[in-house]
Amino acid sequence: MATTTSVRDHSLTGPESTRAVERGLVDAEWFRPGIDPVALRSLQQRGDRRAASDTVLWILLLIVAAWVAWWSLGVDGIIWWQAIPAFAVYGALYGGAADARWHECGHGTAFQSRWANDVVYYLACVMLWRGPTLWRWSHHRHHTDTIIVGRDAEIAYPRPTSVWRAAWMFTHIEGSVRLITRLVRHATIGLDADARDLIPEHDRRRAVWEARAIVAAMLVVVGWSLSVTSIVPLLFIGLPTVYGGWLMVFFGITQHAGLRHDVLDHRENTRTVLMNPVLRFLYLNMNFHVEHHLFPSVPYHALPQLHETIGSQLAPPLRSTWAAYREIGRALRRQSSDPTWEIPVAVPDVVGAMPARIDVGERNWVRSSDAAVTLTMVDDMSVGELRRVDRDDSTYVLCRVTDDEFRLVDGMCTHARVHLAGGALLASGDRCEIECPKHNARFDVRTGEATRAPGRHSLTTYRVEIAKGRVTTRFDALSE
Ligand code: FES
Repeated sequence: MATTTSVRDHSLTGPESTRAVERGLVDAEWFRPGIDPVALRSLQQRGDRRAASDTVLWILLLIVAAWVAWWSLGVDGIIWWQAIPAFAVYGALYGGAADARWHECGHGTAFQSRWANDVVYYLACVMLWRGPTLWRWSHHRHHTDTIIVGRDAEIAYPRPTSVWRAAWMFTHIEGSVRLITRLVRHATIGLDADARDLIPEHDRRRAVWEARAIVAAMLVVVGWSLSVTSIVPLLFIGLPTVYGGWLMVFFGITQHAGLRHDVLDHRENTRTVLMNPVLRFLYLNMNFHVEHHLFPSVPYHALPQLHETIGSQLAPPLRSTWAAYREIGRALRRQSSDPTWEIPVAVPDVVGAMPARIDVGERNWVRSSDAAVTLTMVDDMSVGELRRVDRDDSTYVLCRVTDDEFRLVDGMCTHARVHLAGGALLASGDRCEIECPKHNARFDVRTGEATRAPGRHSLTTYRVEIAKGRVTTRFDALSE
């Protein structure tokens, strides 16, 4: 789809927002590649061990870098600028690597334990000057309407962007000023128009209080610096967001810069770049960015495997970070004079896939003598599998929880119109939840309760029976 104007309004409440709705780009159905459901289920598995070891390593590196920076400031004969390398490493771990932790824990996919995801998410939000609720909703929107102008608040390189401007963004000075100004505004005057567009009414108060809490924490550090008449406390808490932000920009620019706007195929507006293990640790494998957008329910550590699994349906990845930067540099140069030009991406000509589906519309009903509908033979579904069930205008999802437990619940997410059958079934302790494939909302399949935002309302659950090797239902609601 070609753009019709060269310089476009990227605000969320301007004319481009209306235009995106008119063009059918809002909350739209996106391309989803085919994948063997068994393979997808195994990739979606969560655990705590991998994320715990990566998080502990990150925190240890932060502590060591901080200690070296502190030590180098106090050594006799060392001039202040000789401490710069230690602060550079500390800043990159703080203002750069924290971004990937923020992202993965915001999705709730890093750890299996919810509390662990939340602790790291809130910590990273404070480190990065981001209001947790605002940025959660902003990122949901980024996944719903990825790089749709007027809808996505996370388009980092509105066109025209010159190479020089992109280089300036590496200092993260402008970005930091924007972040802090916005936090102060939200803490004092209230939410701005874009924030109100993103955050639903019920979460706005919380967003304001979070902004106040972060601003208060910053003021404590500023006060500490003033009381000791030294910038050193701020160099360790607060300012690393600015001087270490270059690493976040370094990774972030590779995700979408120069690629297409306003398309409904992540393969055309998102970039996967092969990176070395050190960068992948710092970035938590988000270099497999196309794969992440296609399947946000796959945790970061399984993305390389997902890339192997669906790679033939995607455009070839950029072979190195250098190759990505060359492509981006050329694109930004060209777009500085022609903002409508976009990097052409040759995607393989494959048909998108939907999850397996059972149609029990009136014509296809298989009725037993008591008017129950057979949904499946027990042996036709494996444990952990989800099947979409369509009956006239209604959609449900059938879940096989254990060998002898099947559950039937509403099939559409209560956040937006997305089929839950494309998500994941996650069992942990006594609880079994279905996770939405779009923004990772969760619902208890036994009670229907919405257990993770942005799922707000519960799902209705329906009675199923297992007899003579069949799973049947009359669609009697168990819960509303
Ligand atoms: S559509 Fe957003 S979480 Fe389901």
